[in-house]
Amino acid sequence: MFIKNGWYVAAWGNEIGRELTQRWIAGDPLVLYRTEAGKVVALEDRCPHRRASLAKGRLVGDTVQCGYHGITFDCLGSCVHIPGQEKIPGSMAARAYPVLEKWQWVWVWMGDPDAADESLLPDFHYNDAPGWVATGGCIPVKANYQLLTDNLLDLTHETYVHGKTIGNSAIVETPISYRVEGNEVHVERIIRNAPPPPLFQQVRNFEGNIDRWQIIRFQMPAHISIDARGLPAGTNDIERGMRWFSINSITPVNERSSLYYWTITRCFSLEDESLTKVVSDQIYKTFMEDVEVLEAQQALIETDQRRKAEVSIRADSGSVSARRIVQRLVEKDASTTSERMIPEVAQ
Ligand code: FES
Ligand SMILES: [Fe+2]
Repeated sequence: MFIKNGWYVAAWGNEIGRELTQRWIAGDPLVLYRTEAGKVVALEDRCPHRRASLAKGRLVGDTVQCGYHGITFDCLGSCVHIPGQEKIPGSMAARAYPVLEKWQWVWVWMGDPDAADESLLPDFHYNDAPGWVATGGCIPVKANYQLLTDNLLDLTHETYVHGKTIGNSAIVETPISYRVEGNEVHVERIIRNAPPPPLFQQVRNFEGNIDRWQIIRFQMPAHISIDARGLPAGTNDIERGMRWFSINSITPVNERSSLYYWTITRCFSLEDESLTKVVSDQIYKTFMEDVEVLEAQQALIETDQRRKAEVSIRADSGSVSARRIVQRLVEKDASTTSERMIPEVAQ
Protein backbone atom coordinates (compact mmCIF):
# COMPACT_ATOMS: atom_id res chain seq x y z
CA MET A 1 0.00 0.00 0.00
CA PHE A 2 2.84 2.39 -0.84
CA ILE A 3 3.39 4.63 -3.84
CA LYS A 4 6.79 3.68 -5.23
CA ASN A 5 7.08 6.30 -7.96
CA GLY A 6 7.33 9.28 -5.65
CA TRP A 7 9.83 11.19 -3.51
CA TYR A 8 10.18 10.42 0.19
CA VAL A 9 12.23 12.27 2.76
CA ALA A 10 15.01 9.93 3.87
CA ALA A 11 16.74 12.29 6.30
CA TRP A 12 17.59 15.84 7.23
CA GLY A 13 20.60 16.83 5.13
CA ASN A 14 22.73 17.30 8.26
CA GLU A 15 22.05 13.73 9.41
CA ILE A 16 23.96 12.17 6.51
CA GLY A 17 27.72 12.33 6.54
CA ARG A 18 30.78 10.14 6.07
CA GLU A 19 29.32 7.20 7.90
CA LEU A 20 26.77 4.58 6.83
CA THR A 21 23.20 5.23 7.95
CA GLN A 22 20.35 2.78 7.62
CA ARG A 23 16.80 3.98 6.93
CA TRP A 24 13.70 2.02 6.02
CA ILE A 25 11.32 3.59 3.51
CA ALA A 26 8.05 2.03 2.39
CA GLY A 27 9.14 -1.41 3.53
CA ASP A 28 12.60 -1.31 1.94
CA PRO A 29 15.95 -0.92 3.76
CA LEU A 30 18.37 1.72 2.46
CA VAL A 31 21.93 2.58 3.33
CA LEU A 32 22.77 6.27 2.98
CA TYR A 33 26.09 8.10 2.98
CA ARG A 34 27.85 11.13 1.58
CA THR A 35 30.66 10.86 -0.95
CA GLU A 36 33.94 12.67 -0.43
CA ALA A 37 32.60 15.32 -2.82
CA GLY A 38 29.51 15.73 -0.62
CA LYS A 39 26.85 13.99 -2.71
CA VAL A 40 24.34 11.78 -0.91
CA VAL A 41 24.11 8.14 -2.09
CA ALA A 42 21.28 5.67 -1.36
CA LEU A 43 21.70 1.94 -1.99
CA GLU A 44 19.48 -0.96 -1.05
CA ASP A 45 20.72 -2.09 2.36
CA ARG A 46 20.85 -5.75 1.43
CA CYS A 47 24.12 -7.09 0.17
CA PRO A 48 23.40 -9.00 -3.06
CA HIS A 49 25.73 -11.77 -1.88
CA ARG A 50 23.95 -13.05 1.27
CA ARG A 51 21.74 -10.09 2.19
CA ALA A 52 23.84 -8.81 5.06
CA SER A 53 23.26 -5.17 5.98
CA LEU A 54 25.68 -2.96 4.05
CA ALA A 55 25.11 -0.28 6.70
CA LYS A 56 27.03 -2.52 9.11
CA GLY A 57 30.02 -2.52 6.75
CA ARG A 58 32.38 0.39 6.17
CA LEU A 59 33.00 3.24 3.80
CA VAL A 60 36.21 2.97 1.79
CA GLY A 61 36.54 6.25 -0.11
CA ASP A 62 33.23 6.49 -1.91
CA THR A 63 32.62 2.73 -1.93
CA VAL A 64 30.84 0.51 0.60
CA GLN A 65 32.57 -2.63 1.78
CA CYS A 66 30.14 -5.23 3.12
CA GLY A 67 31.09 -6.12 6.69
CA TYR A 68 30.41 -9.82 6.21
CA HIS A 69 32.63 -11.07 3.34
CA GLY A 70 34.14 -7.79 2.13
CA ILE A 71 32.45 -7.47 -1.26
CA THR A 72 32.58 -3.82 -2.27
CA PHE A 73 30.15 -1.59 -4.20
CA ASP A 74 30.42 1.88 -5.70
CA CYS A 75 27.89 4.75 -5.53
CA LEU A 76 25.90 3.25 -8.39
CA GLY A 77 25.70 -0.10 -6.61
CA SER A 78 28.11 -1.76 -9.05
CA CYS A 79 30.40 -4.33 -7.51
CA VAL A 80 34.04 -3.23 -7.72
CA HIS A 81 35.75 -5.93 -5.67
CA ILE A 82 35.19 -9.53 -4.57
CA PRO A 83 37.88 -10.79 -2.19
CA GLY A 84 39.79 -13.72 -3.71
CA GLN A 85 37.99 -13.57 -7.05
CA GLU A 86 38.65 -11.64 -10.25
CA LYS A 87 35.49 -12.25 -12.21
CA ILE A 88 32.51 -10.19 -11.05
CA PRO A 89 29.11 -11.60 -12.01
CA GLY A 90 26.83 -8.97 -13.58
CA SER A 91 24.13 -9.70 -11.05
CA MET A 92 26.43 -8.85 -8.12
CA ALA A 93 24.99 -5.32 -7.81
CA ALA A 94 23.12 -3.40 -5.14
CA ARG A 95 20.16 -1.37 -6.23
CA ALA A 96 20.88 2.37 -6.29
CA TYR A 97 18.07 4.86 -5.69
CA PRO A 98 17.80 8.34 -7.23
CA VAL A 99 18.54 10.99 -4.58
CA LEU A 100 18.01 14.73 -4.36
CA GLU A 101 19.04 17.07 -1.60
CA LYS A 102 16.82 20.10 -1.42
CA TRP A 103 15.17 22.41 1.11
CA GLN A 104 17.20 20.91 4.00
CA TRP A 105 16.02 17.38 3.34
CA VAL A 106 17.38 14.32 1.49
CA TRP A 107 14.78 12.89 -0.90
CA VAL A 108 14.80 9.37 -2.32
CA TRP A 109 12.78 8.07 -5.28
CA MET A 110 11.65 4.56 -4.40
CA GLY A 111 10.29 3.51 -7.81
CA ASP A 112 11.54 3.08 -11.36
CA PRO A 113 14.77 5.16 -11.57
CA ASP A 114 13.95 6.14 -15.16
CA ALA A 115 10.70 7.72 -13.97
CA ALA A 116 12.41 9.85 -11.27
CA ASP A 117 11.22 13.39 -11.91
CA GLU A 118 12.34 16.39 -9.86
CA SER A 119 9.19 18.28 -10.83
CA LEU A 120 7.24 15.82 -8.66
CA LEU A 121 8.92 17.08 -5.48
CA PRO A 122 6.44 18.87 -3.25
CA ASP A 123 6.95 22.62 -3.12
CA PHE A 124 8.71 23.01 0.22
CA HIS A 125 11.01 25.88 -0.74
CA TYR A 126 9.99 27.87 2.34
CA ASN A 127 12.20 25.49 4.33
CA ASP A 128 15.18 27.58 3.27
CA ALA A 129 13.85 30.60 1.39
CA PRO A 130 15.39 34.03 2.07
CA GLY A 131 13.17 35.98 4.45
CA TRP A 132 11.97 32.87 6.25
CA VAL A 133 13.26 31.09 9.35
CA ALA A 134 12.59 27.37 9.83
CA THR A 135 12.65 25.19 12.90
CA GLY A 136 11.72 21.52 12.93
CA GLY A 137 12.56 17.91 13.55
CA CYS A 138 11.62 14.31 12.91
CA ILE A 139 9.29 12.29 15.09
CA PRO A 140 9.02 8.48 14.93
CA VAL A 141 5.36 7.47 15.08
CA LYS A 142 4.03 3.95 15.58
CA ALA A 143 1.19 4.44 13.12
CA ASN A 144 0.47 4.04 9.44
CA TYR A 145 1.49 7.11 7.43
CA GLN A 146 -2.05 7.71 6.23
CA LEU A 147 -3.27 8.27 9.77
CA LEU A 148 -0.86 11.22 9.80
CA THR A 149 -2.01 12.60 6.45
CA ASP A 150 -5.64 12.23 7.57
CA ASN A 151 -4.76 14.19 10.69
CA LEU A 152 -3.12 17.04 8.79
CA LEU A 153 -5.88 17.31 6.21
CA ASP A 154 -8.59 17.66 8.84
CA LEU A 155 -7.61 20.33 11.34
CA THR A 156 -10.93 20.22 13.23
CA HIS A 157 -9.03 17.98 15.66
CA GLU A 158 -7.06 21.03 16.80
CA THR A 159 -10.10 22.11 18.81
CA TYR A 160 -10.11 18.88 20.81
CA VAL A 161 -6.48 17.73 20.80
CA HIS A 162 -4.54 21.01 20.82
CA GLY A 163 -6.55 23.33 23.08
CA LYS A 164 -3.35 24.36 24.93
CA THR A 165 -1.59 25.64 21.78
CA ILE A 166 -3.19 26.03 18.36
CA GLY A 167 -6.78 24.91 18.90
CA ASN A 168 -9.96 26.67 19.96
CA SER A 169 -13.66 26.36 19.22
CA ALA A 170 -13.55 28.81 16.27
CA ILE A 171 -12.06 26.03 14.15
CA VAL A 172 -14.93 23.58 14.34
CA GLU A 173 -17.42 26.40 13.96
CA THR A 174 -15.98 27.30 10.54
CA PRO A 175 -16.61 24.94 7.62
CA ILE A 176 -13.88 24.00 5.14
CA SER A 177 -13.87 24.15 1.37
CA TYR A 178 -11.79 21.74 -0.65
CA ARG A 179 -10.84 20.91 -4.19
CA VAL A 180 -8.85 18.21 -5.97
CA GLU A 181 -6.44 19.20 -8.75
CA GLY A 182 -4.75 16.26 -10.43
CA ASN A 183 -2.85 14.48 -7.68
CA GLU A 184 -3.17 17.38 -5.24
CA VAL A 185 -5.79 18.17 -2.62
CA HIS A 186 -6.40 21.70 -1.36
CA VAL A 187 -8.37 22.34 1.81
CA GLU A 188 -9.14 25.83 3.07
CA ARG A 189 -10.63 27.21 6.22
CA ILE A 190 -10.83 30.96 6.79
CA ILE A 191 -12.00 31.91 10.24
CA ARG A 192 -13.18 35.49 10.63
CA ASN A 193 -13.12 37.62 13.73
CA ALA A 194 -12.39 34.96 16.34
CA PRO A 195 -10.16 34.85 19.43
CA PRO A 196 -6.57 33.74 18.75
CA PRO A 197 -5.59 30.30 20.07
CA PRO A 198 -3.08 30.29 23.00
CA LEU A 199 0.12 29.87 20.95
CA PHE A 200 -0.81 32.64 18.51
CA GLN A 201 -1.49 34.92 21.46
CA GLN A 202 1.86 34.02 23.01
CA VAL A 203 3.69 34.63 19.73
CA ARG A 204 2.02 37.89 18.70
CA ASN A 205 0.22 39.30 21.73
CA PHE A 206 -2.90 40.24 19.76
CA GLU A 207 -5.11 42.95 21.24
CA GLY A 208 -8.39 41.57 19.95
CA ASN A 209 -9.86 39.02 17.59
CA ILE A 210 -8.08 37.72 14.53
CA ASP A 211 -8.83 36.38 11.08
CA ARG A 212 -7.20 32.97 10.82
CA TRP A 213 -6.30 31.22 7.58
CA GLN A 214 -5.50 27.54 7.16
CA ILE A 215 -4.63 26.75 3.56
CA ILE A 216 -3.63 23.12 3.22
CA ARG A 217 -1.99 21.52 0.22
CA PHE A 218 -1.48 17.76 -0.11
CA GLN A 219 0.99 16.39 -2.65
CA MET A 220 1.68 12.72 -3.14
CA PRO A 221 2.79 10.43 -1.58
CA ALA A 222 2.39 12.09 1.85
CA HIS A 223 3.50 15.72 1.79
CA ILE A 224 1.40 18.46 3.34
CA SER A 225 2.07 22.17 3.65
CA ILE A 226 -0.20 24.45 5.63
CA ASP A 227 -0.11 28.18 4.99
CA ALA A 228 -1.22 29.44 8.41
CA ARG A 229 -1.99 33.11 9.01
CA GLY A 230 -3.34 35.04 11.95
CA LEU A 231 -4.10 38.72 11.24
CA PRO A 232 -5.83 41.36 13.36
CA ALA A 233 -9.51 40.90 12.41
CA GLY A 234 -10.57 42.77 9.30
CA THR A 235 -6.98 43.73 8.33
CA ASN A 236 -4.22 42.43 6.15
CA ASP A 237 -1.65 43.67 8.65
CA ILE A 238 1.18 41.15 8.55
CA GLU A 239 3.30 43.54 10.69
CA ARG A 240 1.02 43.02 13.66
CA GLY A 241 -0.04 39.55 12.56
CA MET A 242 1.72 36.30 11.82
CA ARG A 243 2.21 33.89 8.96
CA TRP A 244 4.03 30.60 8.91
CA PHE A 245 4.09 27.44 6.86
CA SER A 246 3.70 24.15 8.64
CA ILE A 247 5.60 21.79 6.36
CA ASN A 248 5.06 18.09 6.90
CA SER A 249 6.42 15.07 5.12
CA ILE A 250 5.48 11.62 6.27
CA THR A 251 7.80 8.79 5.35
CA PRO A 252 6.29 5.34 5.83
CA VAL A 253 8.83 3.01 7.43
CA ASN A 254 6.44 0.12 7.00
CA GLU A 255 2.67 -0.36 7.24
CA ARG A 256 2.62 0.36 10.97
CA SER A 257 5.26 2.97 11.56
CA SER A 258 6.33 6.26 10.08
CA LEU A 259 8.84 9.05 10.36
CA TYR A 260 7.24 12.46 10.61
CA TYR A 261 9.53 15.17 9.21
CA TRP A 262 8.29 18.65 10.07
CA THR A 263 9.18 22.31 10.04
CA ILE A 264 7.52 25.56 10.96
CA THR A 265 8.92 28.31 8.79
CA ARG A 266 7.91 31.89 9.53
CA CYS A 267 8.35 35.28 7.85
CA PHE A 268 8.25 37.57 10.90
CA SER A 269 10.61 38.36 13.81
CA LEU A 270 13.33 36.52 11.93
CA GLU A 271 16.10 37.44 14.36
CA ASP A 272 14.19 36.47 17.49
CA GLU A 273 15.85 33.24 18.60
CA SER A 274 13.80 32.94 21.76
CA LEU A 275 10.67 33.01 19.57
CA THR A 276 12.14 30.23 17.43
CA LYS A 277 12.58 28.18 20.59
CA VAL A 278 9.02 28.87 21.77
CA VAL A 279 7.61 27.86 18.37
CA SER A 280 9.80 24.77 18.21
CA ASP A 281 8.94 23.59 21.74
CA GLN A 282 5.24 24.34 21.51
CA ILE A 283 4.76 22.78 18.09
CA TYR A 284 6.71 19.68 19.13
CA LYS A 285 4.45 19.40 22.17
CA THR A 286 1.44 19.85 19.89
CA PHE A 287 2.58 17.12 17.51
CA MET A 288 3.25 14.77 20.41
CA GLU A 289 -0.42 15.20 21.31
CA ASP A 290 -1.20 13.94 17.80
CA VAL A 291 1.22 11.05 18.23
CA GLU A 292 -0.58 9.93 21.36
CA VAL A 293 -3.92 9.87 19.53
CA LEU A 294 -2.53 8.22 16.38
CA GLU A 295 -0.57 5.45 18.12
CA ALA A 296 -3.64 4.51 20.16
CA GLN A 297 -5.74 4.63 16.97
CA GLN A 298 -3.26 2.36 15.15
CA ALA A 299 -3.38 -0.20 17.95
CA LEU A 300 -7.18 -0.23 17.89
CA ILE A 301 -7.30 -0.55 14.11
CA GLU A 302 -4.90 -3.51 14.21
CA THR A 303 -6.89 -5.31 16.89
CA ASP A 304 -10.32 -4.72 15.37
CA GLN A 305 -11.35 -8.28 14.60
CA ARG A 306 -14.70 -7.22 13.18
CA ARG A 307 -12.97 -4.84 10.74
CA LYS A 308 -15.92 -2.56 10.97
CA ALA A 309 -16.15 0.04 8.18
CA GLU A 310 -15.40 3.57 9.33
CA VAL A 311 -18.06 6.26 9.01
CA SER A 312 -16.85 9.46 7.36
CA ILE A 313 -18.14 13.00 7.94
CA ARG A 314 -17.95 16.24 5.96
CA ALA A 315 -14.66 17.31 7.58
CA ASP A 316 -13.01 14.20 6.10
CA SER A 317 -13.45 15.41 2.50
CA GLY A 318 -9.79 16.35 2.10
CA SER A 319 -8.35 13.21 3.67
CA VAL A 320 -10.72 10.92 1.79
CA SER A 321 -9.69 12.61 -1.49
CA ALA A 322 -6.00 12.17 -0.63
CA ARG A 323 -6.53 8.50 0.15
CA ARG A 324 -8.22 8.03 -3.22
CA ILE A 325 -5.25 9.61 -5.00
CA VAL A 326 -2.80 7.38 -3.12
CA GLN A 327 -4.89 4.29 -3.86
CA ARG A 328 -4.99 5.12 -7.57
CA LEU A 329 -1.24 5.72 -7.75
CA VAL A 330 -0.44 2.56 -5.81
CA GLU A 331 -2.54 0.58 -8.29
CA LYS A 332 -0.87 2.36 -11.22
CA ASP A 333 2.60 1.55 -9.85
CA ALA A 334 1.59 -2.09 -9.37
CA SER A 335 0.22 -2.40 -12.92
CA THR A 336 3.25 -0.78 -14.59
CA THR A 337 5.58 -3.00 -12.56
CA SER A 338 3.76 -6.15 -13.64
CA GLU A 339 3.60 -4.95 -17.28
CA ARG A 340 7.35 -4.53 -17.24
CA MET A 341 7.80 -7.98 -15.79
CA ILE A 342 5.78 -9.84 -18.43
CA PRO A 343 8.30 -9.62 -21.32
CA GLU A 344 11.16 -10.46 -18.94
CA VAL A 345 9.38 -13.63 -17.88
CA ALA A 346 8.59 -14.52 -21.50
CA GLN A 347 12.18 -14.28 -22.72
S1 FES B 1 26.84 -10.85 2.57
FE1 FES B 1 27.92 -9.13 1.87
S2 FES B 1 29.79 -9.88 1.23
FE2 FES B 1 28.69 -11.63 1.86
FE1 LIG C 1 -2.59 17.92 15.21
